[in-house]
Amino acid sequence: MWGGRFSQGPSAIMREINASIPFDKALWRQDIAASKAHVVMLGKQGIVSAEDAATISAGLDQVAAEYEANGVPEDWDLEDIHMTSESRLAELIGPAAGRLHTARSRNDQVATDFKLWVREACLAADAALGMLQVALVTRAEEHAASIMPGFTHLQTAQPVTLGHHLMAYYEMAQRDRSRFVDAHARASQCPLGAAALAGTGFPIDREMTAQALGFAMPTANSLDSVSDRDFALDYLMAATQCALHLSRLAEEMIIWASQPFSFVTLPDALSTGSSIMPQKKNPDAAELVRGHSGRIAGCLTSLIMTMKGLPLAYSKDMQDDKPPVFEAASLLMLCLAAMTGMVEGATFRTARMREAAELGYATATDLADWLVRQANIPFREAHHITGAAVKLAEQKGVALDKLTIKDLKMIDPRIDERVYAALSVEASVAARTSHGGTAPDEVRKRVAEARAALGLEAS
Ligand code: ARG
Repeated sequence: MWGGRFSQGPSAIMREINASIPFDKALWRQDIAASKAHVVMLGKQGIVSAEDAATISAGLDQVAAEYEANGVPEDWDLEDIHMTSESRLAELIGPAAGRLHTARSRNDQVATDFKLWVREACLAADAALGMLQVALVTRAEEHAASIMPGFTHLQTAQPVTLGHHLMAYYEMAQRDRSRFVDAHARASQCPLGAAALAGTGFPIDREMTAQALGFAMPTANSLDSVSDRDFALDYLMAATQCALHLSRLAEEMIIWASQPFSFVTLPDALSTGSSIMPQKKNPDAAELVRGHSGRIAGCLTSLIMTMKGLPLAYSKDMQDDKPPVFEAASLLMLCLAAMTGMVEGATFRTARMREAAELGYATATDLADWLVRQANIPFREAHHITGAAVKLAEQKGVALDKLTIKDLKMIDPRIDERVYAALSVEASVAARTSHGGTAPDEVRKRVAEARAALGLEAS
């Protein structure tokens, strides 16, 4: 394709290091679509004859049909998907194929193909996150009033409801979706027609190709068009943030499924056994989500390092943009599917969760709050009194609400029987009615909003 000024062909090493076809063949649909949009425009503008345009367009359809049926052939000599398609087109339709590359370059071609691919990946991630949200709100509604210990420092802190805990991940998924939607919207300008770097002297219609490919408008600067990979970084940043969220949920599932916790039994379909220990059921899918999140973050780092310090416009380094994006996308979609299945299929052991909430003196704050409200004691002093009550309960090996009134009065005479109403875990969660709090009614309110946002029927 470019042999004119060379007297020797590339060495085997050059061919190998140069080839992107092993991975960029994933762009074949986008490459055919962009070539078709381009040639239709060339025909309409009279840059190639109507007859050649029609021949090229039909030929491209045939190339696509072959790829669909047999896959994309991998010939390193042809370097990439762009040259592979063009060379097959030439075999099929003859010299007219040589007119397709008028007024474009592989630099604007690859930017366009890749941007189209990333736009689709944004929409796919958004849709998969929507499925995860459906699973989360469904389980959250079921467990709007199921009590579990809430943790800080992984130490029992205050009782919360399982529904509230699950809805925390709904909110994370909501922000993740907005990041993918933003990334999609920001990638709405079409680079096609920027040509190699400077634009072209042919009377092309960039509005037309942009529209045909589903972009809102053409890019505004040809140099930026061929050297911009922000859209891929936007995707990877959104993917990394999303993967971080998934890894936190995965980690909780792993902890909760461990025997000392026993808060959850994970679905068999997403667990594995041990070849030596017959009793084992391992949370491998969750562990792999936790692991894959690191790889996704690595993909982001990889492209950041590739782009850092590159002068305008295109440099071959940029060919390395695709593997990290493809890898991150396939890992992310797998992780989203795995976590959706885990949320759907988990058996939450609510009796055990409740018991754990009662064991950890989780209502100590409620005792302190009661002293503030009922006995008008400053919070800091109430905190101190409550500390003494926890110490006594610990010595006696009982829950706070199992201390006798005599015990409590000995700690502070201002305490009376009414305190017991505040000390149960139910009373504790029911009291937390502030906006976004864990009270079951608050959780149900947020679940109802979420269901409406997801287009689910009110229940
Ligand atoms: N295979 C190249 C890539 O993926 C296509 C663009 C090549 N452009 C060039 N001027 N060599 O980036």
